[in-house]
Amino acid sequence: MEAKLTREQANELLHKYVKGENYITHSYAVEAIMRGLAKRLAPDDIEYWGICGLLHDLDEETAPWRQDMSTHGRVSAEILQKEGFGDPVMESAIMAHNPETGVYPKTTLEYALIAADPMSGFCKAVAQIYPDKKIASVKHKSVNKRFKESRFAAGANRQFMMEIEKTGISWDEFIDIALESMTEIADQIGL
Ligand SMILES: [Fe+2]
Repeated sequence: MEAKLTREQANELLHKYVKGENYITHSYAVEAIMRGLAKRLAPDDIEYWGICGLLHDLDEETAPWRQDMSTHGRVSAEILQKEGFGDPVMESAIMAHNPETGVYPKTTLEYALIAADPMSGFCKAVAQIYPDKKIASVKHKSVNKRFKESRFAAGANRQFMMEIEKTGISWDEFIDIALESMTEIADQIGL
């Protein structure tokens, strides 16, 4: 699948609309996990999947989601169109990562994105309880253990993370892919 924009253009677009450092690093982390998942699920579309991850929260600072959660994702799609990068597959994946848009995940790409989003924050939260706070130190089994503690990183939607199984990737494999992918870009995401 050919994206309407290059990775470089996508990164420029992200920085044009999103200024918060935490949102930027979150976007990079989700991009990395999406690339890791694509290696297994869609080897010809690694770049495309990565860009979907990179831009999934493009409207974080512009959509009025605090008043109306259904706008988160829809506004990203509008921005892509306005900027000349309209792409129904990408827009649908971005909207489906927030089912409150009324768009629900139904393709492998969409299940991967809705799972990768909370997974990135969850792995970061696990890293932060380690003495060195490094993603490289995080053990597979601590991710599993913390996952079962519903009060740990309570904002990370467990149900969404488990959507990964609809892609054919197991929960255990997903943990390894997420940790490896985030470790590869640890410097860029401050972990
Ligand atoms: Fe996100």
